[in-house]
Amino acid sequence: MNNVGSVSADMQDRPEQGPPLWLLAELTYRCPLQCPYCSNPLEFAEHKQELTTAQWIDVFSQARALGAAQLGFSGGEPLVRDDLAELIGAARDMGYYTNLITSGMGLNQARIDQFLDAGLDHIQISFQASDGEVNNMLAGSRKAFDQKLAMARAVKAAGYPMVLNFVTHRHNIDQIEKIIELCLALEADFVELATCQYYGWAHLNRAGLLPTKAQLDHAEAVTNRYRAKLAAEDHPCKLILVMPDYYEDRPKGCMNGWGNIFLTITPDGTALPCHSARQLPVAFPNVSEHSLSHIWYDSFGFNRYRGDDWMQEPCRSCPEKEKDFGGCRCQAYMLTGDATQADPVCSKSPHHHQILAARAEADLPQPPIEALTFRNERTSRIICKS
Ligand code: FES
Repeated sequence: MNNVGSVSADMQDRPEQGPPLWLLAELTYRCPLQCPYCSNPLEFAEHKQELTTAQWIDVFSQARALGAAQLGFSGGEPLVRDDLAELIGAARDMGYYTNLITSGMGLNQARIDQFLDAGLDHIQISFQASDGEVNNMLAGSRKAFDQKLAMARAVKAAGYPMVLNFVTHRHNIDQIEKIIELCLALEADFVELATCQYYGWAHLNRAGLLPTKAQLDHAEAVTNRYRAKLAAEDHPCKLILVMPDYYEDRPKGCMNGWGNIFLTITPDGTALPCHSARQLPVAFPNVSEHSLSHIWYDSFGFNRYRGDDWMQEPCRSCPEKEKDFGGCRCQAYMLTGDATQADPVCSKSPHHHQILAARAEADLPQPPIEALTFRNERTSRIICKS
């Protein structure tokens, strides 16, 4: 059902909806790297258009007026935008807490200084692995690992609170000890050891990325050992381990509820309740056609899965629906073809066997890294045509 217009009559009596608190500005889908687990849409090559500087600043201003307080700059790679310092400065002037989510490619000392002047609060740099060979193979760049190391040191030297993010999967999760040691050597304040979540390109490559249960148990044990050691030393570094929900029996309360606190704006101005929603059979509104107030409170897309009227069984009568909202709408759609189904991660879902099959598949030998489908323009165009 495609419907971008105003809220239908049966939604007029929806529960009072609070404002968006988190704004994610996906400034561009352009990126010099080609990670096979990128969360951008598979058909990103079809979406070349980007909002102008003035349009982005207007979006920030409207979201701030609604109540948004946190603003993340992401992509693609946000550093490919020459106006990034201007956008950061405008956001800080409005009172946002600003976070740059970057691969570090395209960063240099001059830009770090510009961002400091503009008032940027926080930088998160992502790595692909703890060693240059695997990192560069996954990233598709022979320079990536050295650049990331240099920029992590420069960001730390500039006085930012630094988050290092490692997306882990079956090809690098066994190196978790080396990853943590590298982060400690780089003096990270926070380390996100985030196992892949299977959206976008990661979903396409799921069989080649999903770790085994034994790999996850090992990663958790090593992380807990380091947590205890760091706590005993009163060390400031915090380790955050994010496990894949494919090994859970109850779904996550994705995005804290549909259209509840998160607002994503894609490069071309399409507004989404989550970074993955573009794939759903719902037409979402664009900031160039509607005000953010209309989009957030009244558009069909943002109201589509609010509340619980849309739920089918087993969610409809489930006592846990207030906590998990039936799980993730995008995952339900990807795995069942129907976004109103329970997230198959839930053991009560009639589609849970798909999750069990994925776990069983993870225990089988899988092809090497080189066999993954890498995220780049060429592959995206092939996918668009198929
Ligand atoms: Fe879209 Fe979970 S990622 S609802």
